[in-house]
Amino acid sequence: MATTINSTIKLASGYEMPRLGFGVYQTPPEETERCCLEALNAGYRHIDSAACYRNEAGCGNAIRASSIPRDQIFFTTKVINISYYGAKATVDQSLALTKLEYIDLMLLHMPMGGSKNRKGAWRALVEAVEAGKVRSIGVSNYGVHHLDELEQHINELERERGGPGKGGVVSVNQVELHPWLARQDIVDWCTQRDVALQAYAPIVRGARFKEPSVKKLADKYNKTPAQVLIRWSLDKGFSPLPKSVTPSRIVANADVLDFELTPEEVQELETDEYSPVAWDPTIRKLYE
Ligand SMILES: NC(=O)c1ccc[n+]([C@@H]2O[C@H](COP(=O)([O-])OP(=O)(O)OC[C@H]3O[C@@H](n4cnc5c(N)ncnc54)[C@H](OP(=O)(O)O)[C@@H]3O)[C@@H](O)[C@H]2O)c1
Repeated sequence: MATTINSTIKLASGYEMPRLGFGVYQTPPEETERCCLEALNAGYRHIDSAACYRNEAGCGNAIRASSIPRDQIFFTTKVINISYYGAKATVDQSLALTKLEYIDLMLLHMPMGGSKNRKGAWRALVEAVEAGKVRSIGVSNYGVHHLDELEQHINELERERGGPGKGGVVSVNQVELHPWLARQDIVDWCTQRDVALQAYAPIVRGARFKEPSVKKLADKYNKTPAQVLIRWSLDKGFSPLPKSVTPSRIVANADVLDFELTPEEVQELETDEYSPVAWDPTIRKLYE
């Protein structure tokens, strides 16, 4: 079925997540409200922030200032302080900064702090869901070994906290994903367990716009290289999170719904390169 601006992914939590997201990493706090309002006006219904971006307040201002009903906007933020008390405090701080009644999706930003702290931070997110502060929970930058450990922690929490469901449900893993970092192992793990993949740096921060494979498809569909890469991400079944502070780019990056790559083109664009443009905590050891 063709993707529309309203297309969603049904998360394991039962909530719907709009496929196309809007990232605000490195968006200056004083510009965040303006950028998010421009994104909402352009049709995006999904905003991706994090406690460490220091711009959650601007996201909340835009969500509250827009005339769009709150339940039609999906807001994600992330915990960088990975421990039980760190995550618990971050949930409350994010609610206070955004002045929202609930957060749609809260992620553990990276697998740091060692096993005990990761389990504690996850438990704090499970409790936040039970308290109605957060709707869905997940992780970011988790490699397969971290995901296996999380599954083990969920089983332990179920035993410790009174049975099925008490360990929480993993709805999302957010990782850097694009044709030069296809991460088949992580994608397979998540797909097999109904964990949605959010793709960060989906336009590779502009680093691959001149690749002949991208240019060829941009010419064929009369689209920009950025639009081709966002389309690749949608056609892979991911939830891409392009970021921009530039009004024309915010609009253009959402104008990706009137064309589709063929399965062969999706395949041809993909490489077996390992070329991240951001950090890569998925490769951290479990004790780190
Ligand atoms: N979980 C994590 O650890 C993590 C890490 C990184 C990112 N993320 C999330 O994913 C989002 C996207 O990733 P990202 O910001 O690293 O990379 P990105 O979206 O691939 O690229 C953003 C860069 O590309 C430029 N750009 C945007 N649209 C463009 C266009 N149409 N033509 C040319 N240049 C364009 C932007 O410049 P201007 O802004 O100047 O227009 C910005 O410099 C982030 O904002 C954040 O929400 C998460």
